[in-house]
Amino acid sequence: MGGGQRRIDAQHRKGKLTARERIDVLLDPGSFEEWDTYVEHRCTDFGMEKQSIAGDGVVTGYGTINGRLVFLFSQDFTVFGGSLSEAHAEKICKIMDQAMRVGAPVIGINDSGGARIQEGVASLAGYAEVFQRNVLASGVVPQISVIMGPCAGGAVYSPAMTDFIFMVEDSSYMFVTGPDVVKTVTHEEVTQEQLGGAITHTTKSGVADKAFTNDIEALLYLRRFVDFLPHSNKSKPPTRPTPDLADREEKSLDTLVPANPNKPYDMKELIIKVVDEGDFFELQPAYAANIITGFGRMDGTTVGFVANQPMVLAGCLDIDSSRKAARFVRFCDCFNIPIVTFVDVPGFLPGTFQEYGGIIKHGAKLLYAFAEATVPKVTLITRKAYGGAYDVMSSKHLRGDVNFAWPSAEIAVMGPKGAVEIIFRQDIGDAGKIAERTEEYRRRFANPFIAGKRGFIDDVIMPHNTRKRICRSLKMLREKELKNPWKKHGNIPL
Ligand code: HXC
Repeated sequence: MGGGQRRIDAQHRKGKLTARERIDVLLDPGSFEEWDTYVEHRCTDFGMEKQSIAGDGVVTGYGTINGRLVFLFSQDFTVFGGSLSEAHAEKICKIMDQAMRVGAPVIGINDSGGARIQEGVASLAGYAEVFQRNVLASGVVPQISVIMGPCAGGAVYSPAMTDFIFMVEDSSYMFVTGPDVVKTVTHEEVTQEQLGGAITHTTKSGVADKAFTNDIEALLYLRRFVDFLPHSNKSKPPTRPTPDLADREEKSLDTLVPANPNKPYDMKELIIKVVDEGDFFELQPAYAANIITGFGRMDGTTVGFVANQPMVLAGCLDIDSSRKAARFVRFCDCFNIPIVTFVDVPGFLPGTFQEYGGIIKHGAKLLYAFAEATVPKVTLITRKAYGGAYDVMSSKHLRGDVNFAWPSAEIAVMGPKGAVEIIFRQDIGDAGKIAERTEEYRRRFANPFIAGKRGFIDDVIMPHNTRKRICRSLKMLREKELKNPWKKHGNIPL
């Protein structure tokens, strides 16, 4: 009963489930093994010795999701506002340590008023113990945070260091300083929702990966999501039998790319048409939508997809999309998930906003991530692959294992118009000549065969064969071994 019926009713009135109800929805029925039910806080200040509730504001343990082991903690807002005491932190640390020892994901359901105010520095110490474990577990076991209530102040940094953050609209928020402090310091008036709600973090800041309308929807999606993830950095990506044949042809892809190179098309259609059963779990769909990231399966095995989206900013790489995709690529590489990259990129987005914002450093993140990745990498250029962006997008030169192109691919330093205006500057006043030169350049370079001649493209494939060719490539790569030189760790441009 946590903090009692009155507080449970208040929780329900806010449209929120209780900590235990959330666990019931998330885990397979009857699979939950609870730990530390009897743990209590040790605080004796401010009359706290008279208020002890078994479990101390967090429910911890392990269970299964579709038969696969996960560890989890679920903060109980009905007990001292889910605030984190020393004992509460110890419970979280215990399951994190165990998850790392056995190799299983950690799911944290966050609903907390932050540091237990009555405990002072003991609570801050508790947070730091959790932070330290978040860092040690990073790249060892997948860590997922679900924000289902308040998450404020330094407390945000635990979810921030996990691999994925899911939020619930209108009932969850994350910020370092709340609306009152913001008003005092910057005189801005914002609501909690505007400052750190689910929509803000999935559209503006990119802090969260996905927003859901209520607790149940979020938890059911999480069940589906966990199915894509390996248990740890020692496991292979999970496989699931599928009736979808690996050599299925998709004739409609032959007309996906429009004849006019300046016309956009929806890259998501390509992903959905090649993955098993059209089942694609997209991450950050409403943030930096010029790049698509997410998980699907090919011939039953989890694959991470990274794809330029010509419908948004013509598919250009910019600061946000580089950061978004770099983090995703690094997750896949940590956890042995093959990466399939679909390329249609006219280049990096120009402008002072991008340059002043540090596109040089941020773009380098994606380059670094692809170059460092040792997992199987299959790349397909559907249309444009220009300039530095061609190199960045999992090119052959960054140890792409299999690099395909469709016949519509254009691989060059830049598009025909820009190229001609530079190398034939003397003809700029003569429209006829420029048109002629542009056509000549297009004929010569706007195709995949120059790259093919050098072996930078392994094969030019027909769009309808895309699924078959990628599935075969991934099968061939199943036992791939590649190691980077020994180092303590690299120094990714942060
Ligand atoms: C102890 C807390 C608490 C806290 C809430 N409660 N936050 N108890 N420590 N941090 C208790 C309340 O006393 C109340 O107890 C119950 O939880 C529910 O709180 P309400 O205020 O009634 O709920 P609500 O109106 O929904 O407001 C929720 C809230 C608010 C917005 C979270 O409680 C709040 O602002 N709390 C303080 C937040 C905060 O400043 N935390 C410290 C941040 S600094 P009863 O008995 O009445 O049910 C931080 C640093 C982390 O976290 C550092 C890491 C490095």
